[in-house]
Amino acid sequence: MERGTDIERAAAVIAAGGLVAFPTETVYGLGADASSADAVAKIFAAKGRPTGHPLIVHLARGAQLDDWAIDIPGVARRLVTVAWPGPLTIILNKSLRVADATTGGAATVGLRVPADPVAQALLARFGGGIAAPSANRFGGISPTTADHVASDLGDRVDYLLEGGPCTVGVESTIVDLSAWTARGAVLLRPGGMSREAIEAVTGPLGTGTAESPAAPGTLESHYAPRALVIAVEPPELALVLPAVLAQGGRVGVLAPRSALREIPEGVVFEQLPEDVEGMARELYARLRALDETGVDVVVAALPPAVGLGEAVGDRLLRAAGPRRKP
Ligand code: TXA
Ligand code: MG
Repeated sequence: MERGTDIERAAAVIAAGGLVAFPTETVYGLGADASSADAVAKIFAAKGRPTGHPLIVHLARGAQLDDWAIDIPGVARRLVTVAWPGPLTIILNKSLRVADATTGGAATVGLRVPADPVAQALLARFGGGIAAPSANRFGGISPTTADHVASDLGDRVDYLLEGGPCTVGVESTIVDLSAWTARGAVLLRPGGMSREAIEAVTGPLGTGTAESPAAPGTLESHYAPRALVIAVEPPELALVLPAVLAQGGRVGVLAPRSALREIPEGVVFEQLPEDVEGMARELYARLRALDETGVDVVVAALPPAVGLGEAVGDRLLRAAGPRRKP
């Protein structure tokens, strides 16, 4: 696989219908021309992702909204004025410019203007919309460095556009505004923009699910490492750990240092920062590091559900999937 920092080259690969992995402030994306059904089909093949699972279309500027969506409510315009460029995706009714393959046949489309300077340069150079899911194999942990992408997708990508590690570290928040008049704003996935900041514009958010809009609840676990994950409230950590250790097997702990008085013998400890922004930034790299040590079980401390803590908690519970209860 070719990798480097050549924006021209990356934009040319996308324009030719190829696949480019690129950094955003949330996670690395696996991009293709959002107007081309053939190009988008390569994304699903490279990820091993079911084709009914819709992709987010990335744009250089909020002013392009009207090219990609129709029936745009005023609240959507107010929200993106505050949020873009940044870690927010909004769902609106799609325009004809969006290939049906991009939305998995859905009449709606997810749109986002990323803030990362490398993503911005690529989008500006290409000019069109870039459809991009996270650049990992389906169901796995999203990549927050170029090396993560290389190890997950390797030769399945035509060009890996390198940037630094992602500064936010969890995926964008997804808010559905496609049925604003009937249902108001619905939170489909907590993420890099806090609920508090969004609700300041939209009012209280309703709840929905982004993982499989066509068939809710069919995906049991997602954002998942190889190891079994058990997510607990911090005070439970010291109680659960001896029981997990007693089962045998190799045990890892993912938590801020303050969550454990002492680290039991034999436990692999991966430390998270104490603040929720730091936890979000480090989460995926630390989960990958734990997988690399070969632990069988990861006991993770849930963060407070404020700000980015809501997204971190959501990802830990999804990583745990139906297995989360000790
Ligand atoms: O931060 C992010 O959002 C990253 C970066 C690369 O932008 N992208 C990302 O994409 O996380 P992906 O495909 O891994 O997750 C997008 C989620 C999926 O769960 C998908 O079902 C949902 O967004 N989604 C996309 N379009 C949708 C639509 N029209 N209706 C409902 N859900 C949608
Ligand atoms: Mg993903």
